[in-house]
Amino acid sequence: MLVHRSSFSQSLRMAGLLPHSPLLKLSSSSLLRRSHPSVPFLYSFSLSFSSLAAKKQHKQPPIAAVLEIGGVKIAKDDVVRESDPSNNVPDAIFSKLGLQLHRRDNHPLGILKNAIFDYFDTSYSAKFVKFDDLSPIVSVKENFDDVLVPADHVSRSYNDTYYVDAQNVLRCHTSAHQAELLRKGHTHFLVTGDVYRRDSIDSTHYPVFHQMEGVRVFSPDEWLGSGVDATSYAASDLKKTLEGLAQHLFGAVEMRWVDTYFPFTNPSFELEIYFQDNWLEVLGCGVTEQEILKRSGREDSVAWAFGLGLERLAMVLFDIPDIRLFWSTDQRFTSQFSEGKLGVKFKPYSKFPPCYKDMSFWISDAFTENNLCEVVRGIAGDLVEEA
Ligand code: PHE
Repeated sequence: MLVHRSSFSQSLRMAGLLPHSPLLKLSSSSLLRRSHPSVPFLYSFSLSFSSLAAKKQHKQPPIAAVLEIGGVKIAKDDVVRESDPSNNVPDAIFSKLGLQLHRRDNHPLGILKNAIFDYFDTSYSAKFVKFDDLSPIVSVKENFDDVLVPADHVSRSYNDTYYVDAQNVLRCHTSAHQAELLRKGHTHFLVTGDVYRRDSIDSTHYPVFHQMEGVRVFSPDEWLGSGVDATSYAASDLKKTLEGLAQHLFGAVEMRWVDTYFPFTNPSFELEIYFQDNWLEVLGCGVTEQEILKRSGREDSVAWAFGLGLERLAMVLFDIPDIRLFWSTDQRFTSQFSEGKLGVKFKPYSKFPPCYKDMSFWISDAFTENNLCEVVRGIAGDLVEEA
């Protein structure tokens, strides 16, 4: 009897916790036959399975002691200070600083960021200045006061925000950069960056995520003569711009505007898109509070601003089922995405690391694949299936 390699090409797969993900995989890698026909064959195959040993090999990478972000050197001791009672930044959060997933052209967040840049470059002939390397350590003033967040707002609490010390935080939104860039005279800008919020962790929540902020300032000659007041003019331009962006990213898609509240915009809106039978909130925006413009020396102007969550959009566009995957360095994740390819659908894989073992055993003339499969299923159950 000769068992052909091809006839054993079916491998067996046991689903892991992610749907359709292989946890246990059996496949024949070699087939040895003893020279004496009466002696059973030696059967060899590879076994790929998860084990504690394999998991242990996947250690967290060491945390760099000094980072450089936007030309600023940041030492771990500057951010994680156990002796300072107003510091609540753990090592695990510090380890995310400087990773800047949004600046990787082959990462879903970088691919999405570049697609949004393309939209603005095309629609506004490259008028928007882009910032994506600003330090995430900002002052309490920049993060909250400059954008008119009330003194008693819950987002200021130690429970919700990472404080480096009493005066400085890890930005909890990219709006933290609005006032400074307006003061510097910018009228069209996009700020992309990692933002930090103390939160529980699950498939849609993670304490570090990425936002993109957009701001456009109009001077009076732009709305005078339009027949509408400055606020209405900015609001309708804002909605038109963001509807165009949603179309650029999602194609023809149903969307709706919902009125909301932000301390820094008035009126304020959320854009929702209809996706897989649900209305999904994708961004917040509005007409900039006049007080913010006044403080930056632009009381004659009107402006709009928006802030969108990159993970939220990328999960939809790339079919990524778990927000934690964005941080994966596993090649099975990273190799699925490449520069410029927006919306390539993610293919799930086992949540366990691959671990290959060769196994061999003797088989008799009576060997059939079904016999083997039944032995395997007798131990591992019906979750084992052909790959
Ligand atoms: N900063 C807001 C947030 O993080 C988003 C936003 C930005 C809303 C700009 C309006 C204008 O939720």
